[in-house]
Amino acid sequence: MKPQTPPKTYRVKSFGCQMNVYDGERMAELLGEKGIEPAPEGEEADLVVLNTCHIREKAAEKVYSDIGRLKKDDGSKPMIAVAGCVAQAEGEEIMARAPAVSMVVGPQAYHRLPDMLDKAVQGERATDTDMPAIAKFEALPARKKRFPTAFLTVQEGCDKFCTYCVVPYTRGAEISRPFADLVDEAHRLVDSGAREITLLGQNVNAWSGEGPKGHTIGLDGLIRELAKIPDLQRIRYTTSHPNDFTPGLVACHGEVDKLMPYLHLPVQSGSDRVLKAMNRQHTAERYLRLLEDVRAARPDIALSGDFIVGFPGETEAEFEETLSIVDEVRYSQAFSFKYSPRPGTPAATMDDQIAKEVMDDRLQRLQARLNRDQLAFNEASIGKTCDVLVERRGKHPGQWLGKSPWLQSVWFTEEIGGETGIGDMATVDLVEAGPNSIRGARFASTPHHATA
Ligand code: SAH
Ligand code: SF4
Ligand code: F3S
Repeated sequence: MKPQTPPKTYRVKSFGCQMNVYDGERMAELLGEKGIEPAPEGEEADLVVLNTCHIREKAAEKVYSDIGRLKKDDGSKPMIAVAGCVAQAEGEEIMARAPAVSMVVGPQAYHRLPDMLDKAVQGERATDTDMPAIAKFEALPARKKRFPTAFLTVQEGCDKFCTYCVVPYTRGAEISRPFADLVDEAHRLVDSGAREITLLGQNVNAWSGEGPKGHTIGLDGLIRELAKIPDLQRIRYTTSHPNDFTPGLVACHGEVDKLMPYLHLPVQSGSDRVLKAMNRQHTAERYLRLLEDVRAARPDIALSGDFIVGFPGETEAEFEETLSIVDEVRYSQAFSFKYSPRPGTPAATMDDQIAKEVMDDRLQRLQARLNRDQLAFNEASIGKTCDVLVERRGKHPGQWLGKSPWLQSVWFTEEIGGETGIGDMATVDLVEAGPNSIRGARFASTPHHATA
């Protein structure tokens, strides 16, 4: 590769889960430290970081078409770095297939991006897919985010090895970041304007650490400690695994006001045979019992989940068991996917792979029910008054958008010259429900500098 001009501007494009969003922000901060500026909206960047996802086939293939599309006005390509889970899983292949790529950096190695960039400028292509986990966080600059909602990665990796899933291979073994580092990062985020923090991990409820008194605490203990930060008003966490759900975390939902009434707990299937073949290590019954406990602790909790249809060998009757779970739980929102065979995972070579048409049909039927319940949940909220954390302006003058405690998108309009601003906790009447959002009416607002 020829030596390249040092980039002045960058753009980070993140795909996949929220952990990638977090990583993308941290890579942006690293590039900022090197004096590289974010490219203005609508303008090309000198350096593009594709922060990729490997979870399903479509997501992984996307990286090659994205690389192909990246061109500047003069026909030349920007400098390209491929980061994220495809980088981890297929680093060498990317280097071989895509000569335009200068850097390939895995999700645990991106703190070394600035050094790789120096090499790339000198014309040296570089790949780094080491997995030093905690070392990454220690090497990153301090947080500077200015937005009312923030992600904070507390746990990474996965030891569960569900038979369909690439995450244990792309993100490595489960690790928990140290308690003190997290408290410190949370304080920095709040000091720079965050009012809501979402704690992230591939198995966030597997987090454990040494608490303030020197004994081991779990995610519930961490939440209770973070809730003491005065200007932090909301705490959320995602994603959890049913097997790591402790009674302490259930209790937290009933006792910590700042912990929002929303839980994303994937189940994947309603059939015990399929769950076993997936290596989920829980039954449908156990999952339902857990949700009952959480609902008993926090009756208004909004529940969300993930589903896979068409896992190898899934029969019509087994698929119907998934529909039954949906009917029983009545999710406020959910994510559902067609099974996608991933290279290197045990399920990819199982017998009885399901035909595409069958999967399409099942996904459609499942989503019809999930949509029905999402609308019903939103309709049931009408008439309530709740806090909305204002995140941005809407398209029309005087229009604002934010989230309810139950993670619904709420938009409301105030009179021109009104006092609402980004970061406010606005008191809003919920007046009209749609499938994906709720229209509200504002009647008071607490400026974001006020303490809770
Ligand atoms: N750690 C989380 C989720 C990780 S991936 C958990 O276990 O709950 C997010 C979702 O992608 C999964 O919950 C699953 O529903 C879906 N998914 C993962 N691998 C998949 C595959 N091979 N095909 C289709 N969907 C998949
Ligand atoms: Fe993947 Fe299962 Fe781990 Fe979730 S728990 S990340 S689905 S292996
Ligand atoms: Fe995708 Fe990696 Fe997240 S595979 S879902 S970006 S952990």
